[in-house]
Amino acid sequence: MSITPTSDPIDLFRHWLKDAEKSEINDPAAACLATLDSDGFPQARMVLVRTIGEKGFAFYTNSKSLKGQNLLSYPKASLCFHWKSLRRQVRIVGSVTTATDAESDAYYHSRPRQSRIGAWASQQSEPLSSRDELLEQVALYDEKFAQMENPPRPPHWIGFWILPRTIEFWQDGEFRLHDRLRYERQKDHSWTTQKLYP
Ligand SMILES: Cc1cc2nc3c(=O)[nH]c(=O)nc-3n(C[C@H](O)[C@H](O)[C@H](O)COP(=O)(O)O)c2cc1C
Repeated sequence: MSITPTSDPIDLFRHWLKDAEKSEINDPAAACLATLDSDGFPQARMVLVRTIGEKGFAFYTNSKSLKGQNLLSYPKASLCFHWKSLRRQVRIVGSVTTATDAESDAYYHSRPRQSRIGAWASQQSEPLSSRDELLEQVALYDEKFAQMENPPRPPHWIGFWILPRTIEFWQDGEFRLHDRLRYERQKDHSWTTQKLYP
């Protein structure tokens, strides 16, 4: 089955994401995020993409984590979605901006209370001596915010947007004759498309 191009790749992406949501796939919004560390090494890990809009693809994290630090010092990234049972991959490369306080607040406050407490308790990517140390931190913040219905967002818990400059759609084909379609954003914000050899 070959990919039918749309004029805007975000429309095609939404269509594929919807297909993934209708399937049995766990966490269809999960993507592998690659950043560059201060030694120039790529660093990859999974994130959950929470919003797709004019600013690109947003996920939320601790800005003091490795990925947060990488993105703050080198605001370029790649995201790769893989929907195995649909035999599809989407690969995105783009520049990164931080979400506004209002955007990060809105997402933070939509999460369950324990996840919000966890955001305070976790010094993400810092060395941890034991599980008990983490649970003590959770208990500490649970108590600190016990009287508050809505604990505030930790200032370091923020969103990052990845604004795509290229998006490549990959659909598995018989005998490895896969279909690949790459979109490239132009200066006037329109998109060009290019089919690629598998
Ligand atoms: C499916 C999946 C989704 C994840 N989503 C997020 C996420 O949205 N934000 C986040 O900070 N970590 C998320 N994680 C954990 C990260 O992969 C990673 O372990 C953690 O953020 C630390 O990464 P870093 O040290 O490179 O900053 C997710 C892990 C998995 C397996």
